[in-house]
Amino acid sequence: MVAETINIKNKALLKDQCYINGEWMGANDGSSSEVTNPANSERLGSLPNCGADEAILAITAANKAQKIWAKTDAKERSSVLKNLHHLMLENQMDLATIITLEGGKPISESLGEIAYAASFFEWFSEEAKRVYGDLIPGHQYDRRTLVIKQPIGVVGCITPWNFPSAMLARKIAPAIAVGCSVVAKPAPETPFSATAMAYLSELAGVPKGIFNVVTGDAEKIGSAMTSHKDVKKITFTGSTAVGKHLLKASADSVKKVSLELGGHAPFIVFDDANLEAAVEGAVIAKYRNSGQTCVCANRIYVQSSIYDDFSQRFTEKASELVVGNGLDESTQQGPLISENAIEKVSNHIEDAKNSGAIITTGGNPHSLGGLFFEPTVLTGVSDEMLISKEETFGPVAPIFSFETEQEVIERANNTPYGLAAYFYTTDLAKSWRVSEQLDYGMVGLNTGIISTEMAPFGGVKESGIGREGSKYGVDDYLEIKYVSLAGIED
Ligand code: SIN
Repeated sequence: MVAETINIKNKALLKDQCYINGEWMGANDGSSSEVTNPANSERLGSLPNCGADEAILAITAANKAQKIWAKTDAKERSSVLKNLHHLMLENQMDLATIITLEGGKPISESLGEIAYAASFFEWFSEEAKRVYGDLIPGHQYDRRTLVIKQPIGVVGCITPWNFPSAMLARKIAPAIAVGCSVVAKPAPETPFSATAMAYLSELAGVPKGIFNVVTGDAEKIGSAMTSHKDVKKITFTGSTAVGKHLLKASADSVKKVSLELGGHAPFIVFDDANLEAAVEGAVIAKYRNSGQTCVCANRIYVQSSIYDDFSQRFTEKASELVVGNGLDESTQQGPLISENAIEKVSNHIEDAKNSGAIITTGGNPHSLGGLFFEPTVLTGVSDEMLISKEETFGPVAPIFSFETEQEVIERANNTPYGLAAYFYTTDLAKSWRVSEQLDYGMVGLNTGIISTEMAPFGGVKESGIGREGSKYGVDDYLEIKYVSLAGIED
């Protein structure tokens, strides 16, 4: 059931059932889970609380459908993805409203997320036609070696609440492009974005069984995916802890696994940087989605000679951010996703404060109440504090001081995470040196925004395995096979 109060134009996008083998259906036992709006705790609706049986039904359908989909030509696969790209953009406002209602994101950011999600369908509709093989010279005079790339098969896909549309699109677009099928489990907080995408995929011409959405019990659905012999690959975006669990669970059947996990991004400002641009970049990198992205700046390192100036300007900007319901167009920071998120943010602030950090703005739950929290800035932060070790996933910016290039590189790399890093400098040689020495999958140089469908998104160390988006984004959904051709004699 979907609440009648949800105000969107195209009500057909509001689907309150799972999508399995082209059919909309409930959980076998009829149970469902409630979805609420984090901005006001209002009920948005409920979706089926499925488990292993429904997941297996979807996997079986996906396996059957994939055998046929793999035989279609690249142009056909490209064309349905192009349709989906257009449909997403035609429904951009409604889809963005769903994101804001489920996840609390400011509407301007939700509109951006839909454009971002749609861009993956466009990008991979183009890449579908460029899955090239190779012809390798023979190792004997009568031999040639032919390399072909084939779809891996059924993909189990588990997606997070912080980008409920874009993260799903970033996974299913390359899968569908190369001839795979997908069984997706969206986050329980934001399932309506996924069922809306399934509805549009049907209109776009994605055949039944190729894209399935199963909502419900994470443990049961996840286990069904990792243990099923017909699931050949698992792709997950979310916490490092869950990623490690999925990796272990996939080991028995040796599945290919792609993981986009937690981050703890350093944001370094050298004293030769354009300060105004650095402040602006840091505000975007920190407060995007209320600090709830894996690539958010978590540790802002500022060279000592500009520390006070930077901190003052940054504090000023942070304190001007408008907090409110994401549906209000003036809102720049929405609510956090849950009470647990509020608790983590409060713990990090409390720990830093007790160890001598100074709160220059914010520091408390917002006067709006509920899950709203003040944009917060901490100065005088040291490497011993909890916030310098753990991902905060909230609107708290700790500012550290540093003296030298080598020192800050060491401190920035001193973490098990390795997703995104940022730095600001106008020195060309330093730009190369630092970019190369940061142990991260992605580096933003003089920018606080690095996300685009055209670049390979992903991390090193405990931040993940594999890359999403870009020309590399198809690799994780393909197997390489070589054919040795013999008997080519004169
Ligand atoms: C994430 O937070 O996991 C993804 C953010 C992005 O794609 O920009």
